[in-house]
Amino acid sequence: VTAEKGGYEHFMLKEIHEQPKAYRDTMRGRMNAEGNKVILPELNLTEEQIKNIRNVQIVACGTAYNAGLVGRNLIESLVRIPVENDIASEYRYRSPIVTPETLVIVVSQSGETADTLAALREGQANGAHVLAITNVVGSSIAREANSVLVTLAGPEIAVASTKAYTSQLIAFTLLGLYLAEVRGTQSEPEVAKILAAMQSLPEQVEVILAQKEAIKTYAEQIAKHEHLFFIGRGVDYAVAQEGSLKLKEISYIHSEAYAAGELKHGTLALIEEGVPVIALATQESVLEKTVSNIKEVKARGAHVLAITHEEHANDLLRSVDQVFVIPQTLPLLTSALSVVSLQLLAYYASLALGHDVDKPRNLAKSVTVE
Ligand code: AGP
Repeated sequence: VTAEKGGYEHFMLKEIHEQPKAYRDTMRGRMNAEGNKVILPELNLTEEQIKNIRNVQIVACGTAYNAGLVGRNLIESLVRIPVENDIASEYRYRSPIVTPETLVIVVSQSGETADTLAALREGQANGAHVLAITNVVGSSIAREANSVLVTLAGPEIAVASTKAYTSQLIAFTLLGLYLAEVRGTQSEPEVAKILAAMQSLPEQVEVILAQKEAIKTYAEQIAKHEHLFFIGRGVDYAVAQEGSLKLKEISYIHSEAYAAGELKHGTLALIEEGVPVIALATQESVLEKTVSNIKEVKARGAHVLAITHEEHANDLLRSVDQVFVIPQTLPLLTSALSVVSLQLLAYYASLALGHDVDKPRNLAKSVTVE
């Protein structure tokens, strides 16, 4: 059994370690030799159609939905098109405003999630082009979509999605860059800079994986708690939501993710002595604000772990209890690194509590009921 797990104790741990390969495979062949252009022939949209896109709707469930939250951030910053995120089981019932100028993006690892498939059909019924980001080529969603952007994460067995999520982030980045090229919203040097930074991501993930013992030690501490909080701003907030889902899913520890500035509007009441708060603080532009929010929870007795880059580690250490450092990358790409530390955290917390990491209670890998 450990043989099919590649020597790892669980599929989840194996899949976490496969991420550098998944990033490389998802990027491979999708940029030109000069490294300043993205090539996506699988997009069945003419330049004219791309220029006419007026809005984007990203629809998915669970972790794929969380990837879409990062996707929104990427597309809005790179392409300046308004993007909405929808939970697939809500989408149809809110009578979404879809026109032939809407690009609907459905995201699904399995390509079989019933609600996501129904959302795809809803989009098409309203004349929209539906682009699927999926990990399974022959899946129902891949077959019915107008365009398919395949993530090359390889088969994902663990119920808790890891490498599929991060490959979706890579796919969204490539898509954002491609749309930006066609619509002229990013210059060639800017695209080249982002592509170069993307190519460093696999090695940078290795750096995080090499520090897994530190995360394990921290996970063993939080495993003693019943509640914890994740906070962050911007893309850090999106990653916080994925970190929280991952932890709940396999460790059964209750956690919530909050936009850091929102705590004082209610949730701060839940912070008491010793409550762990994981603060994602990778976004330079809002760092000062996040630090103020960290001080708010510290003042109420929270035990704070910050996830940040080396350059801010010393500064942050003055306001938090512990810091976990991730390698330096562009603000747009931090999610592809920070989330890996949260995946490891969820994994080791589940392990410490003796749960079935790969098959958490009540959950199925693929949800084919609505
Ligand atoms: C991820 O850890 C979950 N098991 C779950 O949220 C999953 O992402 C969701 O059910 C969507 O699945 P899909 O990507 O196959 O559509």
